[in-house]
Amino acid sequence: MNRISRSIKRSVQAQASHVPPDVPVRHMDFSFESANLVRYVYDNDPFYSALLMTFSAVIPHGERFFIESVRNYRGQIRDARLQDRVTGFIGQEAMHGKEHDTMNEAYDAMGFPLLRIDSLSQRGFKWFARLAPKRMQLAFTVAIEHLTAIISEYTFRRPEIQAKYDPEALKFTLWHMVEETEHKAVAFDVYEATGGGYLTRISTMIVSLIGLGLPIAIFHLWIIAADRSVGTVLRHPRGIAGVYGRRGLIMSLAPAFFDFFRPSFHPSQHDTDALLVQMHERLFSERGELAAQIKKTIVPRRRMSAAT
Ligand SMILES: [Fe+2]
Ligand SMILES: [Fe+2]
Repeated sequence: MNRISRSIKRSVQAQASHVPPDVPVRHMDFSFESANLVRYVYDNDPFYSALLMTFSAVIPHGERFFIESVRNYRGQIRDARLQDRVTGFIGQEAMHGKEHDTMNEAYDAMGFPLLRIDSLSQRGFKWFARLAPKRMQLAFTVAIEHLTAIISEYTFRRPEIQAKYDPEALKFTLWHMVEETEHKAVAFDVYEATGGGYLTRISTMIVSLIGLGLPIAIFHLWIIAADRSVGTVLRHPRGIAGVYGRRGLIMSLAPAFFDFFRPSFHPSQHDTDALLVQMHERLFSERGELAAQIKKTIVPRRRMSAAT
């Protein structure tokens, strides 16, 4: 047995002792309208806020791509619990796409080109789905799910970051991040359960970073230019430092990011169970910050449905 095989075996043994969280589908209604949205949701900073808008613009078709990439392998899954988690994953990502669509329309009406970016992203994902092997499409989902999981954990653990968000935008962001954390291992587990290998996983991560990073950088600059905030960004470059600086987002995420390249990596090795308990209480309890926005919660298969 070679080093990679031994390492993967250790990972499988470690996963066996961890019970993955449920993946409940929460039907939300955030009712975004331009009149209620602040222009710059993060730290009143045009650069950082435009980056968040860029993510929002590519999310709806990205989420639909992730769903299809997992669905392609669904018929090969024998584990009933994993099937339930896949159902939850599909439901959660579908809700994210729907809510981001509404938010993108509202920001587009404020003059940000989010719908044009959305349509370009649709074309890009269609092209990728037509040309790339299905295994690579699933590996792409696994790669991006790793990024969303580590960004979510980073945000949960830093109240000082959360304090810089507009309060309404924060609630929306935390909802999405909680669900990303609940389902962070689903695509990974489907990938491994259906025979996905290490080399494809890591090579696709590298290709994904380039393939998605480049258009995101261009869209980001497009939003800043359309907003005519280039001068403000250059005069007050704290958003640039917040993303690219020595203590910025990218450098802070680097250690968790590189864990992905270990052959024995599994998303559950970044333990977020206690964080999820805290966030559930804060957001979804009877007096939680999102109590008014949740219309229904369904835990797949178990039929624990609760109208709130
Ligand atoms: Fe999502
Ligand atoms: Fe996700």
